[in-house]
Amino acid sequence: MDSKNEICEYLKKDLTSKYKRKLLGIIDEEQNGDIGVGCGDILFLNHVISENPSLNNFVELGTWTGVTSMYLGMIARIRGGEFHSFDKVDVRMESVKNSWLPEMYFHQEDILRKKPSKKVLDLVSKENTFIFVDNGDKIKEITLYCGNLIPKSVFVVHDWGDEINIENMNCMKNFVEFSQINEETAQILCSSCRAWIKNETIS
Ligand SMILES: C[S@@+](CC[C@H](N)C(=O)[O-])C[C@H]1O[C@@H](n2cnc3c(N)ncnc32)[C@H](O)[C@@H]1O
Repeated sequence: MDSKNEICEYLKKDLTSKYKRKLLGIIDEEQNGDIGVGCGDILFLNHVISENPSLNNFVELGTWTGVTSMYLGMIARIRGGEFHSFDKVDVRMESVKNSWLPEMYFHQEDILRKKPSKKVLDLVSKENTFIFVDNGDKIKEITLYCGNLIPKSVFVVHDWGDEINIENMNCMKNFVEFSQINEETAQILCSSCRAWIKNETIS
């Protein structure tokens, strides 16, 4: 086994070891400060987004401080697309508000009411969409919005294993039309994100 493979095998062995987390630069949630995702999550998001270079319509459900928004918004800008983030409250940090880019849109709206948000539905049914599902109720968000993605669009759900797991995914009526991507990468990176792509339809 070459040294690169040895590292991979080691990383696969113990997914929760604090040494492994240190090695990957993963900061524990409580030490994480103003960003709602960990380093492993960012590495995973980088991986999924770079493997799907046509994605340029970024939608975040749950803005909070807006640091993750800046990361996704910057990618949208670089790719010539747009970024939209939804939250029922505007608690973006002042520094985030000052850095907000012209391609970034913040929508203050309760998106978990019985009737889905028309704005979110319109956005997620566009081509090349990436949804980051990180709001107050993952199952409800997936049920209301992710099924509306069109082929080749992607959604990533956060807090996998804590708030949501594979048994919950059937909340999406058309879940069979999606394929999970990069599951092993998520595990190796200790990420609590998981990703799905909408399958292409065969005519
Ligand atoms: C986990 S935080 C988002 C973290 C953010 N994505 C990040 O990476 O830093 C969840 C956010 O969802 C928002 N939220 C909860 N329920 C909501 C609702 N019904 N409609 C809109 N936003 C909601 C909360 O206000 C909170 O800011």
